[in-house]
Amino acid sequence: MSSSNIDPFLIFLTLSNTNLYLLLLLLPLIVLFLLHLSPGGLPWACSSRSPPHSRIPGPSGTIFSLSGPLPHRALAKLSTSFQSLYLMAFSIGFTRFIISSHPDSAKEILNNSSFADRPIKESAYELLFHRAMGFAPFGDYWRTLRRLSSTHLFSPKKISSLSGQRMEIGTQMVVQIDALMREHGKVELKQVLHFAALNSIMMSVFGKKYEFGKGNDGLELDELVKEGYELLAVFNWSDHLPLIGWFDFQGVRRRCRNLIKKVDVFVLQIIKEHRERRSNGSFNEINSDFVDVLLHFQSEENLSDSDIIAVLWEMIFRGTDTVAILLEWIMARMILHPEIQSKVQLEIENIVGSSNSVSETDIPKLHYLQSIIKECLRLHPPGPLLSWARLAIHDTFIGDNFVPAGTTAMVNMWAITHDESIWHDAGKFKPERFMDGEDVSVMGSDLRIAPFGSGRRVCPGKTMALANVHLWLAQLLQRFKWEACEGVDLSECLKMSLEMKNSLVCKVVQRS
Ligand code: HEM
Repeated sequence: MSSSNIDPFLIFLTLSNTNLYLLLLLLPLIVLFLLHLSPGGLPWACSSRSPPHSRIPGPSGTIFSLSGPLPHRALAKLSTSFQSLYLMAFSIGFTRFIISSHPDSAKEILNNSSFADRPIKESAYELLFHRAMGFAPFGDYWRTLRRLSSTHLFSPKKISSLSGQRMEIGTQMVVQIDALMREHGKVELKQVLHFAALNSIMMSVFGKKYEFGKGNDGLELDELVKEGYELLAVFNWSDHLPLIGWFDFQGVRRRCRNLIKKVDVFVLQIIKEHRERRSNGSFNEINSDFVDVLLHFQSEENLSDSDIIAVLWEMIFRGTDTVAILLEWIMARMILHPEIQSKVQLEIENIVGSSNSVSETDIPKLHYLQSIIKECLRLHPPGPLLSWARLAIHDTFIGDNFVPAGTTAMVNMWAITHDESIWHDAGKFKPERFMDGEDVSVMGSDLRIAPFGSGRRVCPGKTMALANVHLWLAQLLQRFKWEACEGVDLSECLKMSLEMKNSLVCKVVQRS
């Protein structure tokens, strides 16, 4: 048949069919693209249960703010530009997020039982943290861990029984700083602080003491902890794009599995030593460490050895980094503001006297020192996004905004503590603000400054952390005058906690 014989109607039908097929093929993509452009991105648009009047404002598409080095600042900027400080919706891959940058919505999230779970990242899961308190789902197991630790590790009685140990570690730090200064003419403070915080946790949790710079188990543990911090800090795309999770492109799963094998060996050895020591059956609440406590309650509370390893491992993790990093920021501020340093040293002298060493009983009288710590928690919160997000267990509301179950909820504490409408001269370091006005608590009741979170899952280690920070700061300031060595760079870097990007290197002069 020649081409002239082809029926034009057939040609039309064939072409329109091709177009139709093409259109049918493209239609889902077009719909997906349009949904992707809706506020909060695709996962929000797909949550059809959300009543239209209660849609939360936010950027469309997937945002990359969480994978950058300063997500707290990037998210604060986004919330301001979308005028959504109260609540902003966004998505990463298939994960639906809300973030609060306002004390009222922060309070609603953190104190709402619908947000009592935490989303678990792949790295946390692989490192066994789903069996530890911080990531355990809200329920009986979590309650048991919380009860055991608040009675036997974080109770006021236990914390005050550890004051001798705190004092000893502070004194060791002073000796180390002195030695480093003699040897090198300068001190990189981070190492010293990190080792002190690690030792403090090791003494109270494992009943073990390590010596700074000596090649012993302490160094091995230090390496394990550092590798764990790195893995937990990695922004892992597998957490948000399940399809690529299979391939472990970033190698997170492989590294976690290698690490947890070493942690198992390390912690099991300590458990074994405790079991041998305990074979005589004695258990004394005050003199025992947390390993003894967990072993004592193991069968009663139905805890497996892996549960115990996970709980102990988590304590080392949470307790070390946060305290060391906070103290490094405080010392940086002391060097940058010599007039404030002299003023607090005068306060210590007036309260303690010039010939006595500062001790724990002096701390409640050192009001200016307390204000300095609060001001540093405000300007440099170790967990600017409160480190560990929450997960909506049920459909719920924040104000009038509908939040479907399965949404990850975050609080940008950094944005709240830097908000000019809440804090006058928010960017300035002014400890006096806590001396002159009302007494502002940092323990979680006042959401204008809640560096330890709030509600059911508030940080259980906050009193212990603050006891260490207050005493060690007083000891360091009483013994030395602190000066810059290579300048002080306040640039930040958010890993597990908000660290100084360039470690503080300084000089000290003995105070007479
Ligand atoms: C300056 C020091 C510290 C800061 C700023 C800090 C901050 C936080 C924050 C923001 C949370 C999440 C709270 C929430 O979701 O509302 C948290 C949880 C937690 N912290 Fe801390 N923390 C510090 C020290 C410690 C210490 C010393 C320990 C233990 C030795 C510890 C153990 C924990 C645990 C186990 C959780 C999880 C609680 C749960 O989910 O039930 N923290 N911390």
